[in-house]
Amino acid sequence: MRLDGMSAAVTGGASGLGLATAEKMVEAGAKVTLIDLPSSPGAEQARRLGGNARFAAADITDAEQFAAALDAADEFGPLRSVVHCAGRGARIRLVEKDGSPGALEPFEDVVQLNLIGSYNALRLGAARIARHDPIDGEGGAIVLTASVAAFDGQIGQIAYTASKAGIVGMTLCAARDLASKGIRVCTIAPGIMDTPLLGRLREDVRTSLEESVPNPKRLGRPAEFGALACGIVENPYLNGETIRLDGAIRMAPR
Ligand SMILES: NC(=O)c1ccc[n+]([C@@H]2O[C@H](COP(=O)([O-])OP(=O)(O)OC[C@H]3O[C@@H](n4cnc5c(N)ncnc54)[C@H](O)[C@@H]3O)[C@@H](O)[C@H]2O)c1
Repeated sequence: MRLDGMSAAVTGGASGLGLATAEKMVEAGAKVTLIDLPSSPGAEQARRLGGNARFAAADITDAEQFAAALDAADEFGPLRSVVHCAGRGARIRLVEKDGSPGALEPFEDVVQLNLIGSYNALRLGAARIARHDPIDGEGGAIVLTASVAAFDGQIGQIAYTASKAGIVGMTLCAARDLASKGIRVCTIAPGIMDTPLLGRLREDVRTSLEESVPNPKRLGRPAEFGALACGIVENPYLNGETIRLDGAIRMAPR
């Protein structure tokens, strides 16, 4: 599917991997709606990207707000693609150091944002994409964001790992479900990417993270995520698959 002239929505579009994807899509000629929290720099980033970018403020854990933002993207041009990047982690232990059970609330919050948010991206996004006639047999494509933590969960990542493994599990199921509408679904599982999330790391911690990547020995660049997301949208034969983007890293237990 050609990016040139298509309308796409990118959640988490104000920062990191989402912003890098929006940049690549705009460069390729797409009309892109950045969906992010009202408190995010989404409006300013959309202005920086020029006339083919817009910002729609929404908290994607609120289905009504998310649907309204996707409607705005569909008004910008018939929606063909959703790249869903909004997400975050939380550190929880199953048993705390004082012997008490791990907290339930942060687990629920992360699952609500990462997993239920991805289900909303699929159902709300696909319903809008499916309103439009296919182009050369293609309806559109949805790209979800998991993490290598879906496969190599580290100590303290129980909520993050559960939510990201859920996204990996939904990928083939969603691709099969949406096949009759010509909508493809793929997931990217990034390794350690150099986004604002990691910008706050101490230099020695950052160097040791870089050392842990087999090849290339560095953190992933957000533009590399953006290029893969665009490649998935463009390539009509990629479907139902989770692609690790990680320099062959396999995370240690901690
Ligand atoms: N950076 C990494 O190393 C890495 C590795 C693996 C997976 N990931 C995943 O990639 C995705 C993007 O991460 P990033 O590194 O670009 O992070 P980031 O913090 O730079 O960007 C995330 C964006 O999502 C937005 N967001 C958060 N909650 C939201 C909500 N409720 N509604 C709307 N927007 C919301 C934030 O405002 C932010 O702009 C996340 O799902 C993350 O789990 C990141």
